[in-house]
Amino acid sequence: MNDPVPDPVRIERVGSIAVVTIDNPPVNALSQAVRRELLAAFSGFAADATISGIVITGAGRDFVAGADIREMDMPLLDPSLPDVLAVMETCPQPIVAAIRGNALGGGLELALACDRRIASSGATVGLPEVKLGIIPGAGGTQRLPRLVGTARAIALIAAGRRIGAAEAASLGVVDAVAEGDVLAAARAEAGRAGKRRLSQLPVPSGDPAQVEKAGTDAMRSARGVAAVARAVEMVRLAAATPFAEAVQTERATFLALRDSAEAKALRHLFFAERNAQKVPGIAGAKARPLARAAVIGAGTMGSGIAVALADAGLPVAVVERDAAAATLGRQRVREIYDRIVAGGRLSGGAADERFARIGFGDDWSEISGADLVIEAVFEEMDIKLATFHRLDEIAKPGAVLATNTSYLDVDKIAAATRRPQDVVGLHFFSPANVMRLLEIVRGRATGPDVLATGFALARRIGKVAVVAGVCDGFIGNRIYSAYRRHMEYLVEDGAWPEDVDRAIEAYGFAMGPFAVSDLSGLDIGWVTRKRRHATRDPRERYVAIADRLCEKGRFGRKTGRGWYLYPEGARKPVPDPEVRAVIEAESARHGITRRAVADDEIQRRALAAMVNEAAKILAEGIAQRASDIDLVLANGYGFPSVRGGPMFTADARGLADVLGDVEAMYRFAGFGSEPAALLVDLARAGSTFSKWDAGRVK
Ligand code: 3HC
Ligand code: NAI
Repeated sequence: MNDPVPDPVRIERVGSIAVVTIDNPPVNALSQAVRRELLAAFSGFAADATISGIVITGAGRDFVAGADIREMDMPLLDPSLPDVLAVMETCPQPIVAAIRGNALGGGLELALACDRRIASSGATVGLPEVKLGIIPGAGGTQRLPRLVGTARAIALIAAGRRIGAAEAASLGVVDAVAEGDVLAAARAEAGRAGKRRLSQLPVPSGDPAQVEKAGTDAMRSARGVAAVARAVEMVRLAAATPFAEAVQTERATFLALRDSAEAKALRHLFFAERNAQKVPGIAGAKARPLARAAVIGAGTMGSGIAVALADAGLPVAVVERDAAAATLGRQRVREIYDRIVAGGRLSGGAADERFARIGFGDDWSEISGADLVIEAVFEEMDIKLATFHRLDEIAKPGAVLATNTSYLDVDKIAAATRRPQDVVGLHFFSPANVMRLLEIVRGRATGPDVLATGFALARRIGKVAVVAGVCDGFIGNRIYSAYRRHMEYLVEDGAWPEDVDRAIEAYGFAMGPFAVSDLSGLDIGWVTRKRRHATRDPRERYVAIADRLCEKGRFGRKTGRGWYLYPEGARKPVPDPEVRAVIEAESARHGITRRAVADDEIQRRALAAMVNEAAKILAEGIAQRASDIDLVLANGYGFPSVRGGPMFTADARGLADVLGDVEAMYRFAGFGSEPAALLVDLARAGSTFSKWDAGRVK
């Protein structure tokens, strides 16, 4: 936790203008000390006739990034932000907010309690509270609609959208954008502006159909976050209820949500995302410059990775096996952009501009200027080794050489070069331009500056980065494999695939494991299983149902049949008697009397399988923190964010209880599913993963 700043609010006088600067690094969050000092300052101004106007601003890079999120797990501390804002609004002098950097959440609410808002051209404003499972709690849902109308306020608040200065000005959220010195512009404005209390303005009468549509759109993308519905309700209240009454309702709703399990989980993920960037051994390491990139292989992953890089403004050279494959890759990338444009998320012109950053060919010399090369060729060790051997010959000295392998040994791949320190795993998720997760796989020799470059890249392309060590499947795929294996045990024991999928979806995943398997294709796993057949430990319980399905050519959606049937025109997958027959035959072959499996057992088993494997991963040092594992599962595998990830869920449930489920699971599964020693130790000690994290990594 950052130490409290001794004097987080400064007041200076410039003539008759008082300039209030919030100086509470790193992001000027509105901690109790800041609120207390603001309250004192504005109470004093009210009685000071020598002050004709007030400017409020933030020191450093940001205006104010919002309420202090760290305080949200504590009891309420006075004064509240609404109390401070009420005093500001009734201040007789005009107050002008000078917004540089971020004005988010309570930060924007503070600016909305001013009479004018002037932003620098690089400023960002927004009310992102729903992302933390809460709603704006200091008048944001009531003041914003008075500026932009109900429909627009719903769209902004319910999606937690952050907008730049130009858009903010065009919507009227800020009054002007200052090209030069924003503080000077704000001081000048404070000298001439009159009072304009937003709370006293009417909500512009908008088209009720648009309001309705904004509400429906918001709910469609709510992803199970309860705060979204409440935010929509609160904004609608603005036009229907007097301000003073509506802000009371807003505050009560905010406080109830603040203490909800959902908000606690989302706060956990917020801090997990920041903590994941703190990696032992890389403090002080400088990221290498990154101006040009190259991608080898333009299949499913390579094409998405190229798009992610081009979207961030990087020129990308894509190299394929031959000219025909390069043409196919080009088409694939074009299709990705066409879909984005068709979905209304990008203009045709902007898509063309990005597409033009990507070159396609089969000439490997194209990569010689790249600062970063990402390999996404077939998942076969020999091909990977040949690729890295060739990369070593061609890439410029100091280039970062990355592999997107899902399972293979990054150390072995690095050893194919004479520069293993430059080799790293950058494990993207499909579709690579959409999924937020990036596992950065640290090989034995990977240089700290190469890891730092991985983080810099992640930041640049908007991904959540987590460091993983080398093992079969790294963090995410290894845990997912364990979970999937256990879901297959349940199917062999008596559940149908649709039972498992239904229970998992009811838990909050967008898709159950069998629907996912049909989507990604059963053939990929089949090839891997056949390859591993000779080395698989015969003591491990093996479910052969997927193999039997593959033998029948049931590869999933692409063949119209997999774990389910996909009849033409049907909107949903349909359970198939042929699959049931295969499952029953496999149960019988193992002498299993099939039994009914309740949803609760499926959900508990899924969590137990994930947490047990995760505890092994932690003990082996593959993941640095339990919270890193939560980030991986929530951002790459569809674990519901509102539950905070498997480790957070396990802590909340109690590790002794989870261990009970793991022991039960072990009885069903046997070898390979032994309770993890770390889980046993923590459960016996009455401890939690969160405490374990706190005791290890700073
Ligand atoms: N409260 C407490 N700490 C915060 C914080 C906040 N609101 N916002 C950021 N921090 C901390 C981070 O935890 C991090 O701390 P660390 O260095 O100890 O890990 C540090 O500030 C820097 O943050 P980032 O690493 O995220 O820095 P970036 O430069 O990448 O991003 C940012 C800056 C865009 C401001 C980003 O931090 C952010 O989006 N913050 C959250 C904004 C937000 O959600 N505000 C709403 C809060 S809820 C609210 O205001 C309720 C109100 O309606 C009453
Ligand atoms: P893919 O089969 O769709 O694409 C591979 C591409 O590499 C093909 O276009 C092929 O022509 C090209 N290629 C093969 N050998 C080459 C060579 N020697 N030189 C240049 N190009 C060559 O495979 P996909 O799914 O894109 O996977 C690529 C890698 O990404 C694999 O390592 C895979 O494990 C990994 N991965 C895959 C994910 C997925 O969901 N598909 C997710 C994360 C990682």
